[in-house]
Amino acid sequence: MTTLIDYRLDGQVALIGLDRPPVNALGQPLRAALAEAFEQAIGDAQVCALVIYGQGRAFSAGADISEFGSPAAFATPDLASLLSRLADSPKPVVAAIAGVALGGGLETALACGYRIGTASATLGLPETRIGLLPGAGGTQRLPRLIGAEAALEMILSGESVSASQALALGLIDRLVADGDDVLAAATDFARTLLDESAPAQRAWRYSDPAQGLPASFFEDYAAARSRRWKGQLAPVLALEAVRAACAGSLEEGLAREQVLFKQVESSAQSAALRHQFFAQREALKISGVSKDIALRPVDHVAVIGAGTMGGGIAMNFANAGIPVTLLELKGEALDRGLMHIRKNYESSVKRGKLTVQQLEARMALITGTLEYADIANVDLVIEAVFESLAIKQSVFCTLDKVCKAGVILATNTSTLDVDLIAAVTRRPQDVIGLHFFSPANIMKLLEVVRGRETSAQVLATTLHLARRTDKIAVVSGVCFGFIGNRMLEPYAREAHRLVLEGATPAQVDGVLTELGLAMGVLSMYDLAGIDVGYLVRESRREAIAHDASYFKLADELYAHGHYGQKTGRGFYRYEGRERIEDYEVVACSEVLANELGIARRVISNDEIHDRCLFMLINEGVQLLDEGIAERSGDIDLVWINGYGFPAWLGGPMHYAEQMGLSRVLAGIEHYREQLGDYGQMWFQAAPLLQRLVAAHQTRIQRL
Ligand code: 3HC
Ligand code: NAI
Repeated sequence: MTTLIDYRLDGQVALIGLDRPPVNALGQPLRAALAEAFEQAIGDAQVCALVIYGQGRAFSAGADISEFGSPAAFATPDLASLLSRLADSPKPVVAAIAGVALGGGLETALACGYRIGTASATLGLPETRIGLLPGAGGTQRLPRLIGAEAALEMILSGESVSASQALALGLIDRLVADGDDVLAAATDFARTLLDESAPAQRAWRYSDPAQGLPASFFEDYAAARSRRWKGQLAPVLALEAVRAACAGSLEEGLAREQVLFKQVESSAQSAALRHQFFAQREALKISGVSKDIALRPVDHVAVIGAGTMGGGIAMNFANAGIPVTLLELKGEALDRGLMHIRKNYESSVKRGKLTVQQLEARMALITGTLEYADIANVDLVIEAVFESLAIKQSVFCTLDKVCKAGVILATNTSTLDVDLIAAVTRRPQDVIGLHFFSPANIMKLLEVVRGRETSAQVLATTLHLARRTDKIAVVSGVCFGFIGNRMLEPYAREAHRLVLEGATPAQVDGVLTELGLAMGVLSMYDLAGIDVGYLVRESRREAIAHDASYFKLADELYAHGHYGQKTGRGFYRYEGRERIEDYEVVACSEVLANELGIARRVISNDEIHDRCLFMLINEGVQLLDEGIAERSGDIDLVWINGYGFPAWLGGPMHYAEQMGLSRVLAGIEHYREQLGDYGQMWFQAAPLLQRLVAAHQTRIQRL
């Protein structure tokens, strides 16, 4: 027996413990060891029942995700066949679930005749989140156990259920209090089954999983989600698999599931989502920051500035149960900020997302103040005042004077130099950038900006805090715009310029949303505010002075007070929430193009795609080369979680790898020639991209 399984006998019961830290992922070696242990128990006449459990913190987190896309994923014994064998056991098998039972882990439990779980266990089928579907019987056994509707919801939401919900659904048979020994309880359960001569396999609770559902149930379900699923393969095929569970025998359904599973497993979408899964975990591994570093406690946070960002940041911490003191300059601004927070929570209550008690509990965690003395003892301060270096520096001077030693001082600046802010304090090692995205209580991304002197401990503490508040943290070095906004610049530049050259805003945005972006870049500028974009440009006129022509249209919109959605006009006209093409904008771009000597022409969708995307990718490659981003996966996480890049394309860097780096380079070189002076000025391939292509590399990495 290998060490991957802890095999013991307790009287007539064989105890089979999965023992592959950290989460008992069912890779080929563990599958083989489980198969061997199972056959040993079945072949042992002394054994009358089996208990399968997980050693460590999980029952099992499912199939080993790193095997997908390689032959190891289906290497003998493949999980589906192994679980079919388990399901045919002549002896009762009890799954004892403590910790998580996810994906193939839950499917293992489903193949057992009986299931018992601890109160804190969570059970789920998250496969669609990584572009897969449950491929070891889950789409067939779950509907037969809890009905097609509940099963479909679990499979397509990817959400886990708690043990008590699982009990109510009939997904587990017994609940064990936390602190009680789940293995002992499962062994008792197995003995009771033997005493009662219970069958090894019970009849399914739902012989017809779709019983009672309308004939159009599956069509209606898909139709209601067609927008959310747009362009995605996994949810569509997962639905088809559950549908198969309602249409024929278990064997037929399992065979159909296998076909559909192999289809998603080999898809580019799943490869992209798996890349994202691992990128998210890699992003927490930072050079120079050891895993064992002692973290600073963060039990109380202060936020300076109760505007759009300050309010959202305060909510972010209150939502995680962390008390926040919100500091403003004037009473009115503070009252406005606090009222806005309350209104936000009230709208969550209206939408049924929050109870009134929860609203009050969260508000009780947020205290307003006008006095710095009230924040002297907090553990972390996040400054979110106006985007002005002088104002921010004066705030940091005050913080340096009043705050206790060991406090972490963070700025939410989106463009300013964190090192210049840190330099006004006597403790630059405690200063860091925490760049939240708007709305800060909703958006997942947190760019953590590592200053020149930021200490490893401060970095590690903020990364840990990000996880506590359910944020996806990505570390960036200091540069204008950090990772995300710096890449936005060339991407947006092409979008603006293309409109001058003859595309319409709707055409440009249409190409991007067709690719799967949540929003086209020009619509995004309208949403963020044409005035906001203008002010950022104003502070950068020097850097872009050699050719600011491409922003002439946006400058013109600003001059006319067309600030985007908030004024009802920008690149588009707005009627309520509806976005309408504005012919005056088209006419204005004609006039401007004329003035600037830009020839208008018909622009193809391919050109829009290539110019916007290749410039975005090129800047990402450059950031990697400069060391602003540590890994290309970090860049992907930023764009997926902060800028609406479709997760199923894996982020701009992964997308570039799929397209081929030589295609990206050739495209950049093509437009460099094609676009005259403008091309010569802006279409400069990143040296790293050139080196990668010359070295025939397919992955974006430092070279
Ligand atoms: N396969 C391979 N590695 C896995 C894994 C899996 N299923 N689940 C977790 N890991 C690895 C992580 O990559 C990480 O590795 P690292 O330390 O080298 O970075 C380590 O285990 C710990 O994971 P986390 O950092 O995520 O630990 P947490 O405690 O925060 O979370 C978890 C644990 C909730 C289990 C989370 O890791 C998770 O959600 N895992 C994925 C679950 C999943 O998607 N399962 C379905 C797999 S597909 C499948 O089963 C197909 C089947 O239907 C055929
Ligand atoms: P805002 O204008 O909505 O809020 C700023 C608040 O700071 C105001 O309430 C103001 O009264 C207060 N304030 C100004 N000076 C102060 C001082 N000395 N002490 C205490 N309070 C003071 O601005 P917003 O949009 O919230 O931006 C804040 C910061 O967050 C800026 O640095 C901005 O660049 C950054 N940011 C903004 C994002 C956005 O989408 N709005 C996204 C990410 C970062």
